[in-house]
Amino acid sequence: MAQFLFFFGRDPILSLAELTVCLNQENITIQSIWNNTALIEGTLSNPKKIIKKLGGTTKIAQVLFETPNLNSQTIFQKLEQNHFFEKLPSKFLFALSSVGKITRVQEEQVLRALKKGFKTNKQKAQQKKGTHHKQHNIRVTNPSEILSWKLLEDKTDWNLAQTPTGFLFCQTISVSNPKEWKQRDEKRPFKDNKEIISIRLAKILVNLVGLKEKQTLLDPFCGYATVLQEALLTGLNILGIEKDTHKSQVAQKNLEWIQKQFSTKGTIKIYNKDASQLASFLSPNSFHGVATEPYLGPYLKKRPTPYQAKTTIQELEPLYQTLFSKLAQLMKSNQKIVFIFPVFEWDRQKSITISPAVFAPWFYNTNPLQKKGPQFAKAFPAAYQNPKNKLKRTIWILTRK
Ligand SMILES: C[S@@+](CC[C@H](N)C(=O)[O-])C[C@H]1O[C@@H](n2cnc3c(N)ncnc32)[C@H](O)[C@@H]1O
Repeated sequence: MAQFLFFFGRDPILSLAELTVCLNQENITIQSIWNNTALIEGTLSNPKKIIKKLGGTTKIAQVLFETPNLNSQTIFQKLEQNHFFEKLPSKFLFALSSVGKITRVQEEQVLRALKKGFKTNKQKAQQKKGTHHKQHNIRVTNPSEILSWKLLEDKTDWNLAQTPTGFLFCQTISVSNPKEWKQRDEKRPFKDNKEIISIRLAKILVNLVGLKEKQTLLDPFCGYATVLQEALLTGLNILGIEKDTHKSQVAQKNLEWIQKQFSTKGTIKIYNKDASQLASFLSPNSFHGVATEPYLGPYLKKRPTPYQAKTTIQELEPLYQTLFSKLAQLMKSNQKIVFIFPVFEWDRQKSITISPAVFAPWFYNTNPLQKKGPQFAKAFPAAYQNPKNKLKRTIWILTRK
């Protein structure tokens, strides 16, 4: 059975949760999790499609072999057994990344085995080095490097990963495309940096709901429709509510642009209405799940005062509570809401957030990583902070009772 290693970028918990929900739908299970990576076993029918869908995975690599040590002789034999060199072109660039505790000396041993093979097979190979991550003291190629050095075409981005029992040698088979995301972000007809969430986070929110293609996702605070556009791109039908008339018109334009540019098939419906009234204009079967970054209070340029934080919470709690009560009227048991709560921090230790009492009569907190081990017992609600933003957030997955 084939094995694949998924590499996570920032927010490994959210990325792992998103992957867990997506793979469950494909009946593939995650075998193990170490060092910002997850190992899965099974058939990946379309790795390019999967990586396009995921927000938190930066690259997927196929495991070529497992080895108990990184001794040059052992590696050379394993590479030969895999007919590794025969599949390479006569001239190429390559990169070797390491995750886990792999020493320079061990990496040198692997390089020696590779170079021996290149020489025997008369191949001209030039090594490129990925970005050094100071925090973890590792050197791993990122998607931009892999794409700009064209390592995917020749399948020459290789990765060593330390496991509890030895090491894996893996070949990158697909990477996320940050340039494509940036273009989509910048070229859509309208956006406002203060108010939109990143494409990466939008994708994660959509995926955590766990809907299947052609089901309908609702964003009751759709703004300029970043969450909805990413849902549309994964094959969902979408439904949005936005109180502000101008923004609702812009959302419609943005979504029509996405539909045209990417030939998406899902249906689009935007209501210019107040979300807290939604039970009066939506019917029970009009959507199957909810994902949103809701209205989080006035935009913060700096940390709020305790007074500002408390008054904002007092404004938001009744709005959210009404919304949850109305959603509860329309949603069926087990359907999910992925929702962000703001956390207002006025100094390092003092903060205030929304009380779970606003959803507790109808929904319960869900942790998709519950069964993944004791270290994940408290993974949800998951903390999220965009380094460019003062506001801390928590991401909740709520299930209808
Ligand atoms: C943080 S933004 C939404 C971001 C959006 N989810 C996205 O994907 O980009 C919050 C939006 O909620 C809207 N809003 C505030 N109160 C509302 C209400 N009661 N009903 C509907 N929309 C509301 C605001 O106008 C604003 O556009």
